[in-house]
Amino acid sequence: MNGYREDFPILKSGLIYLDSAASSLTPEQVLKKMLEYYREYRANTGRGVYRIADRATSELEKARKSVAKLIDAREDEVAFVRNTSEGLNFVASSLKFKKGQNIVTTAIEHHSNFLPWLKISREKGLELRIVNPTKDFLINTEDFEKQVDDNTKVVAITHISNVLGFILPVRDIVDIAHKHGSMVVLDGAQSVPHIPLSVKKLGVDFLSFSGHKMCGPTGIGGFYVNPDVLNELEPIFIGGESVDKVSLHGYTLAKFPASFEPGTLPIAEAIGLGEAARYLMKIGLEKIARNDERLIGLLHEMLSTIEGVKIYGPSQEKRTNLLSFNIRDLDPNDVALFLDISSNIAVRSGFMCAQPLVNLLRSKNGVVRASTYLYNTEEEIETLVERIKDFTK
Ligand SMILES: Cc1ncc(COP(=O)(O)O)c(C=O)c1O
Repeated sequence: MNGYREDFPILKSGLIYLDSAASSLTPEQVLKKMLEYYREYRANTGRGVYRIADRATSELEKARKSVAKLIDAREDEVAFVRNTSEGLNFVASSLKFKKGQNIVTTAIEHHSNFLPWLKISREKGLELRIVNPTKDFLINTEDFEKQVDDNTKVVAITHISNVLGFILPVRDIVDIAHKHGSMVVLDGAQSVPHIPLSVKKLGVDFLSFSGHKMCGPTGIGGFYVNPDVLNELEPIFIGGESVDKVSLHGYTLAKFPASFEPGTLPIAEAIGLGEAARYLMKIGLEKIARNDERLIGLLHEMLSTIEGVKIYGPSQEKRTNLLSFNIRDLDPNDVALFLDISSNIAVRSGFMCAQPLVNLLRSKNGVVRASTYLYNTEEEIETLVERIKDFTK
């Protein structure tokens, strides 16, 4: 996929960027689209009647349409949020819980899909049930059968583990949850940018994802809500255009997504996110997924032959866009610093905002994580492996 590298001028410096799971690079097309807003129709959206305000509104709605298309949703099912964490916090804080209900999640979640549930369960006195991974670090569907019951309000899971890099059996988990009348919240931070995803086929009720991991700008993300469960939510923030009628004695909420978008949005960022969605769809998510899988497969294969390298995660499961490892008992931060200084290679190190999982991996100082995207090449993976070999000599 070398043809796309030119869209990312930062790569001209020789940077080997293997940290897209934390935040991706942004192509020129997205930057240009954002600048166009500032230069040509810099006005607020959904408010003014003059022409540039109208253009700003229609560009924003075009962006929403593109983002919705990327996840196979309708545009009136997607709100703009700041990032994955915000969308997940919105669901946890906006759901109307009843006494005696429980929440089911897993021990492999990113903090952003664990802490909101831990917090709300404590505040509301609800039971938080945890599905643990197997000893091979796989998530077993049958374990959800044991934890989910008719009192389960919500099942919150990640789509792709940001530490282990495999895809969870979301459709099977959704079937179990729906059989009990429970809703499913999906953390799409790692999946939306990297694999074809259809909320309709998966049957999830909520999905949250971040623009900055999918070639878009920072400060913007998407939040999908299945219209059938909209009445389960009471927005925690209101104001601006999120209401319909207001008097001194009360108000009526606007329809979703406006009800979840109080105040002025990050307009340039939302428009940039729309461009990023179109950029990814133009290349094709199947193609992007194949490229990631091929590069991570190659890295797995090469690292497996090096003595002293420990790779984390299930050996039998295909990894998507990332792989975590350690070299002997070296501190992961030292490894990452050395890779940067010696070879301009950027990888992530530490606890990956998933401390419960990294503790289960028994890795005291965390892990090193390499992650790929559409601009990475085999040569870059080979260079990384060569440098890793230097550590083990
Ligand atoms: C699986 C997963 N969930 C949630 C997040 C949080 O994303 P953000 O920081 O954009 O809110 C991340 C980010 O690394 C992630 O990998």
